[in-house]
Amino acid sequence: MNVLVTGGAGYIGAHVVDALLRSGRGVVVVDDLSTGRADRVPGLPLVQVDLATPGSPDVLVETMDTWDVTAVVHLAGRKKVGESVARPAWYHEQNVGGTAHVLRAMASAGVPHLVFSSSAAVYGSPAVALVDEDTPTHPISPYGATKLACEDLAARAVTDGVGSFSLRYFNVAGAGSWLLRDDEEANLVTTVLGRLARGEAPQVNGDDYPTPDGTCVRDLVDVRDVADAHVAALRALEGAATPAAEVLNVGTGSGVSVREVVDRLCALDGHGLPVEVLPRRAGDPATVVAAVGRARDRLGWQASYGLDDVLRSAWSAARGEQAGAEQAGAEQAGAEQVSRAR
Ligand SMILES: NC(=O)c1ccc[n+]([C@@H]2O[C@H](COP(=O)([O-])OP(=O)(O)OC[C@H]3O[C@@H](n4cnc5c(N)ncnc54)[C@H](O)[C@@H]3O)[C@@H](O)[C@H]2O)c1
Repeated sequence: MNVLVTGGAGYIGAHVVDALLRSGRGVVVVDDLSTGRADRVPGLPLVQVDLATPGSPDVLVETMDTWDVTAVVHLAGRKKVGESVARPAWYHEQNVGGTAHVLRAMASAGVPHLVFSSSAAVYGSPAVALVDEDTPTHPISPYGATKLACEDLAARAVTDGVGSFSLRYFNVAGAGSWLLRDDEEANLVTTVLGRLARGEAPQVNGDDYPTPDGTCVRDLVDVRDVADAHVAALRALEGAATPAAEVLNVGTGSGVSVREVVDRLCALDGHGLPVEVLPRRAGDPATVVAAVGRARDRLGWQASYGLDDVLRSAWSAARGEQAGAEQAGAEQAGAEQVSRAR
């Protein structure tokens, strides 16, 4: 029983790979390594291909056959909202095109289970603070629109015998280890940690929102919990009598303000730098927190890590506390990697 994980060399993907291996499953990784790192998945088969290229479905079918793949976790994609505004057509090609290729290959190879990485960005600026899966989807960025289009493709693949869960992650942070850390400054936690490391003042975008401290409130979910949600989703798919497509929120159900996150990271880092307040960013809703009842009911999953765990793990991974020990381990493990750039 092998699981093909696209984007498995990425930040969340590598945590998913780790959780799948711990659940006793075999894993083959497909990744173009554009933002991923091969050293996150040492010792695993790694097929290097850009999923948006026309030849990728053939590579995927061959990989599925060779490795006896019974399920796909599809995380590969572009995730930067600002970049998606600048390059909407490319985002569509990459995210929607890549997902269409994955689904075509699954239909050809007869692989019946898919877990897809969606995002709370599909909701856009929701009118309610606590967002459930029936909250209307109105993505405001091309990125969010690509995720919604991919969910739609996944839902339509039921007619090809593919059952799926599209997991709408809220704000993912933290790290299971230094090796798996998120080294891109693409979210609040990594951006603040990056600025502190360079001796720059941390920034908040707007402090006049209708929230207790005036800054935006978000739902920060630990990447290790997010990874476990994928294992729970696969288990549910494997136990289903007939294929169906569902969407589920993956969050904690609790909000934390941007200001509190910044203050806690400064305290962990021992910094007394003043916080710089910038104007609001267009389209940033005041409060976005996941309603998590459906994931609990459908998967028996709920977040187990608290805010302290999320922030402390991100901080210690960013500061390389475990660097020495893990680097040595990764070098020993070696890597069996199949490389087929197309
Ligand atoms: N990080 C978050 O907070 C968050 C929130 C919601 C949804 N997501 C989604 O989760 C997924 C993983 O995000 P992440 O934070 O790990 O990002 P990441 O950039 O670390 O991981 C993405 C991985 O996919 C690979 N990839 C990208 N485009 C590819 C392509 N065309 N072909 C093959 N491989 C490709 C990259 O090399 C990388 O390894 C993405 O789909 C993202 O949209 C992330």
